[in-house]
Amino acid sequence: MTKKAELEKLAAQIQNEVASYDESDPTSWIGIQNAMGQLRRATEPPNMFIMKQRFHTVENISVVAAIHMGLLQLLAENKDKSFKVSELAEKTGWHDSLICRVMRMMGAIAFVDEVGYEEYTANANTSTLCMPGNLGGTQLTNNMTFRLGDKIGEFLDQNKPCDISGGKTPSAYEFAFGETTWETFTKNSAWKKGFDDSMSIRNKTISIPWYKKYPVKQHFSLTEMKKVIVDIGGNQGIDLQRFADDFPDMDCELVLQDLPETIKGIPAGTLGPKVRPVVYDFFTEQNIKGADIYYLKSVLHDWDDISSVEILSNTAKAMKPQSRLLINEIVLLDTNESLLKCDMDMLMLYLCNGMERTKTQWEELLAKVEPALKLVNVWSAQGDQQSVIEAQLA
Ligand SMILES: C[S@@+](CC[C@H](N)C(=O)[O-])C[C@H]1O[C@@H](n2cnc3c(N)ncnc32)[C@H](O)[C@@H]1O
Repeated sequence: MTKKAELEKLAAQIQNEVASYDESDPTSWIGIQNAMGQLRRATEPPNMFIMKQRFHTVENISVVAAIHMGLLQLLAENKDKSFKVSELAEKTGWHDSLICRVMRMMGAIAFVDEVGYEEYTANANTSTLCMPGNLGGTQLTNNMTFRLGDKIGEFLDQNKPCDISGGKTPSAYEFAFGETTWETFTKNSAWKKGFDDSMSIRNKTISIPWYKKYPVKQHFSLTEMKKVIVDIGGNQGIDLQRFADDFPDMDCELVLQDLPETIKGIPAGTLGPKVRPVVYDFFTEQNIKGADIYYLKSVLHDWDDISSVEILSNTAKAMKPQSRLLINEIVLLDTNESLLKCDMDMLMLYLCNGMERTKTQWEELLAKVEPALKLVNVWSAQGDQQSVIEAQLA
């Protein structure tokens, strides 16, 4: 058992964080959560800790079931109303014996509020989950990982010692599904839409825009080059469009590059006239030469080092000495990384043999590019999981 004095110290840390909480600062909750996490860990007996961990899978299956049954969506569409289980059964067609079990779980994991006996109402988590990108993203992450989870032992045994450093071992996803994630996305339009929508909502809500981390105006004032920004693998172009919206008077060309199925799927009205979408495969020559900024967000974490060097070499060959490469990605801590970043790293590993990288790993990767690149600076902002890694020709 943890000593009482230690628990008191941890409780005092929570109180300190609460005392300095600032309602106007959207990142102010982080310190409180971190302090609470430490107290939770120190108080939980190991057997309870292990049992809870085991049940995370059951909780996620239940979330997917509740979405599939349309229960959470119904609550989110009627946020000021509470629903009895019998009403939910009447409206969705599912049996009340199942609904009351699923909804009890939704209440227990805070996806809804339980306001009375077998009676539920939407809370902020319900409404946020039911935004299209989050709904698709939640279903997709679970659908893509459940099957590979079932096969993980077989995958490890058949590929022992599992050299995942590049090209030798298939990803766990490929082993379980018989095709790569990218091949699945070319065939399964529902999953592809879930993926694209989840990228867009993340960029619109959780991500701090790259130009609020990287001093883009200062950089532009130092160069005489034509201001061209190329977003490589930019998906639906949210990052470029946000830039265009925030700098309406800046004279620049904004080029969005992605695969044909992604460009084709951009919903009408997403992009304004300043953003030019073009089809481009980043494993081929980059045709836009000498752009001021080449931007890659959450692209390289999808790929192992061999493929990443290939993507970066195609970019570096198009760069001029004043060009900057901006990589907006997680920079892992050398030790004690947060659970969220470990989750992302392992998801990338399972889905596509991708990886998150430490600063040293980023430097080593850039040095392997032909022509070589060097890291200039890492630009971060409190509350954003990703940093802008600034690089130039070495
Ligand atoms: C994880 S998403 C990141 C999207 C976007 N940069 C963002 O942060 O929201 C990776 C993107 O790479 C694109 N992609 C995958 N393979 C590609 C290729 N060979 N050439 C160009 N884009 C590719 C996908 O379509 C997808 O939009």
